[in-house]
Amino acid sequence: MTKFSIALAAAFAVAPIFSASAQTAASQPAPRAWLQCRACHTIKAGEANKVGPNLNKVFGAKAGTVRPNFVYSPALKSSGIVWNEKTLDTWLINPAKMVRGNRMAYPGLADPAQRKALIDWMRKEAR
Ligand code: HEC
Repeated sequence: MTKFSIALAAAFAVAPIFSASAQTAASQPAPRAWLQCRACHTIKAGEANKVGPNLNKVFGAKAGTVRPNFVYSPALKSSGIVWNEKTLDTWLINPAKMVRGNRMAYPGLADPAQRKALIDWMRKEAR
């Protein structure tokens, strides 16, 4: 190999790394627990609902009102919950216990540190 082709090969080797970081520059890396949520939820503005509603602007919103185009359970809609760090924490411990009859099929996240990391990350991503 000539010096030039070695330099060229090196440039191609690093290029994908740069483009990957440029794509995610606006977001913090998601905590591990989000991998479970994202099977059913999106969180950025304008993203589509999945099995669960898009969670953008969820902080400060009344449960069951965040996405008018999502069909919520009557149980969640009439719960009277306003989402904040504290109510989300209770929700994520055990959604079925907090709102009997809701439709989020999620058993709960037992580890307080994981819940805190997840909620802190969501607060930024959901803005
Ligand atoms: C199996 C799919 C599924 C998983 C996994 C899941 N959710 Fe949900 N989630 C739902 C559904 C469905 C609803 C709507 C429930 C209803 O209407 O009763 C919901 C509702 C919610 C709401 C209330 C939204 C609103 O507009 O009031 C929040 C907040 C939420 N989920 C957060 C999470 C987080 C955080 C995780 C990960 C720890 C998670 N969910 C995991 C399906 C899921």
